[in-house]
Amino acid sequence: MNSTVTEQLIDFNEKQRVFHLHNNLISYIFSIEKGGFLSHLYFGKRVRNYHGQLKNPQRDRGFSDNLPGTQDRTYSLDFLLQEYSSQGDGDFRKPAAVIRQANGSQSTFFVYRAHTISSGKPKLEGLPAAYLLDGSEAQTLTVTLEDELSHVELELMYTIYRDRPVIARSVKLTNKGTTTINVEKLASLQLDLPADRKQVISLPGAHMNERHLERENVNFGVKSFSSRRGTTSHQMNNFIALCDPNTDEFTGDVYGFSLVYSGNHKEEVEKDPYGAIRILVGINDEQFDWQVKSKQSFQTPEVLLTYSDNGFNGLSHTLHKLLRERVARGKFQYALRPILVNNWEATFMDFNEDKLKPLVAEAKQLGLEMFVLDDGWFGHRDDDRSSLGDWQVFQKKFPAGLKRFADYVHTNHLKFGLWFEPEMISIDSELYRQHPDYMLQVPGRQPSPSRDQYVLDIGREAVRENIHDQISQLLDSCPIDYIKWDMNRHLTDIYSKALPAERQGETFHRYVLGLYKLLEELTTEYPNILFEGCSGGGGRFDAGLLYYMPQSWTSDNTDAVARMQIQYGTSLAYPVSSMAAHVSVSPNQQTGRTTSLQTRGAVAMSGVFGYELDLTQLTVAEKTVVKKQVSLYKKIRPIIQYGTFIRLLDPSKGNHCAWMFVATDKSVAVVFSFKLLAEAQPDFKRLKLAGLDPQKDYQNTTSGEIFGGDELMNTGFYESIQPGDFNSQMYYFKLV
Ligand code: DGJ
Repeated sequence: MNSTVTEQLIDFNEKQRVFHLHNNLISYIFSIEKGGFLSHLYFGKRVRNYHGQLKNPQRDRGFSDNLPGTQDRTYSLDFLLQEYSSQGDGDFRKPAAVIRQANGSQSTFFVYRAHTISSGKPKLEGLPAAYLLDGSEAQTLTVTLEDELSHVELELMYTIYRDRPVIARSVKLTNKGTTTINVEKLASLQLDLPADRKQVISLPGAHMNERHLERENVNFGVKSFSSRRGTTSHQMNNFIALCDPNTDEFTGDVYGFSLVYSGNHKEEVEKDPYGAIRILVGINDEQFDWQVKSKQSFQTPEVLLTYSDNGFNGLSHTLHKLLRERVARGKFQYALRPILVNNWEATFMDFNEDKLKPLVAEAKQLGLEMFVLDDGWFGHRDDDRSSLGDWQVFQKKFPAGLKRFADYVHTNHLKFGLWFEPEMISIDSELYRQHPDYMLQVPGRQPSPSRDQYVLDIGREAVRENIHDQISQLLDSCPIDYIKWDMNRHLTDIYSKALPAERQGETFHRYVLGLYKLLEELTTEYPNILFEGCSGGGGRFDAGLLYYMPQSWTSDNTDAVARMQIQYGTSLAYPVSSMAAHVSVSPNQQTGRTTSLQTRGAVAMSGVFGYELDLTQLTVAEKTVVKKQVSLYKKIRPIIQYGTFIRLLDPSKGNHCAWMFVATDKSVAVVFSFKLLAEAQPDFKRLKLAGLDPQKDYQNTTSGEIFGGDELMNTGFYESIQPGDFNSQMYYFKLV
């Protein structure tokens, strides 16, 4: 053991054989038990000292196997709260690790060997992860476990931040044996909690319907949330939370689990026969099989484990700050994001330079700050059947090249943004004609098209280099300020021509590692470009991508009412500075719903704001509203993007939705409140705010009324009743 740290966040009690990770907010405690197995004891609100009272209760439980070579019937891994479990060792719950050895055995017994405690946080090679600005911000405990027979070693890494209720966890496996092994499963995190009534929150959805808050009881058996689509997916986000039945937005315990990864994932929640709960989070083990030769290692992605005793808003507050301050990077991490207009819902692919210019000119008139040219500017792309992979300008649409158009945008004092979909290939493309082998395809089998496109094997260096070089040639020849990085299908035909038969199970993860490599290169080489992630809307909204791209298109659904739920759910785990939201045309193109420009503006202004409609078609009155929205957003933008976001009323629970933003110094609060359907006899409900200074007075700048911060939070106020559906109100309160 090597203990190098003086100011301890991590203690090891030699006598009790107990680790205690702590800061002022949280404690995480686990022990080394008989036989060298690690047992979880506690995670939650800080306790000053642990006095050893949680020794695992023992009992002779039928059909729970005991340790090999012992006679003790009361000790079984089957009901020990384990810190990290494996398979074939008598623990019949879902395992964290499954290792196939040269002789075909999948059994391992991982026991404690050593540990180190050090300042700082090690980097995870090739993977995004939370970082530190200086080594004193956190300390890391690394516990080494070994399976004696196979000589496979696991390093369990725990980094505790000094000032945040956050523990970052990951696992590194090293094959110290002489024969090759296969990792069939290696969770980034296991958390076993004692028997209790708990609920789990997940963020399921679909394309155009992402990240709805789903809350359910944890019942006996295993419930898993996952993606096997090669990417995070719209269908199930890689964030879950575990809470008490009475936890609400402001009170109660909640644990958050954010996987910093953008590929197949699985979050398992198991209630065992005795009521204890096991959580496993990591790369999805289905279709995963990673070969580790002697002396080689495998590193899992990281999970950010968070705890709040202030309900869901408390959890979100921690996550928003953490993702903004210690996961997002680069020049735009804290930059005010430009208000943009995107031509997608305005023109789709039916445009050329002449048709776009009036849109640009109008954007300038209305005070916007960036013009984004979406899909259809490259190859010979007039529809979605061609040209992915050919990142050269479409001469028919831009006869003098893209630079002339970019210059036009810039002379209008707007930034210029451009859409790419770098991970894809069309059969009708030069890239395919030259490199038909670049795509994922099972030999001899016809690959499945989706949106008429196929997936590049981005895990291969040659493929990455080709795409990298094409993109950088374009970026070097044309002044581009922003890139929208899209991905419009999921992965099928999982077979990489670069891998031998026995390594095909690595294809999915290698794809993600390849993507990270490409993104790391491009974002480093072009630090002045703002990157926005996108995958058919919010299909790859995760903490891993946020490390490279500080914002993401939240959903292809731009309907203001649908967006309320999508943004409400997304905000549980992701900061507002990462959520792009645009005003689009009404009736909405995805739902056919009619909403006012005011409500559309209010919802979009609650994120990274922009427009996505033909500005030239707006009436004079609408242009006046847009100008007002744009100038209002410029005023409130710092608070929206970097203030404290608080959810007040959940749109899925009633006819009302509300949220607010508070400046970090509590001097200003911006509140958005939405009434969904009109009612002839509405309830007189009061809106109560949160996060204000109770000792100070605030003025509603529209009405001039003065309220105590305590009044706004406790008595609340009645809102005016407006006729019609889908109304919105905004309140701006400032300290008197
Ligand atoms: C899906 C994106 O989410 C849209 O905003 C748009 O960029 C299209 N792709 C373009 O193909």
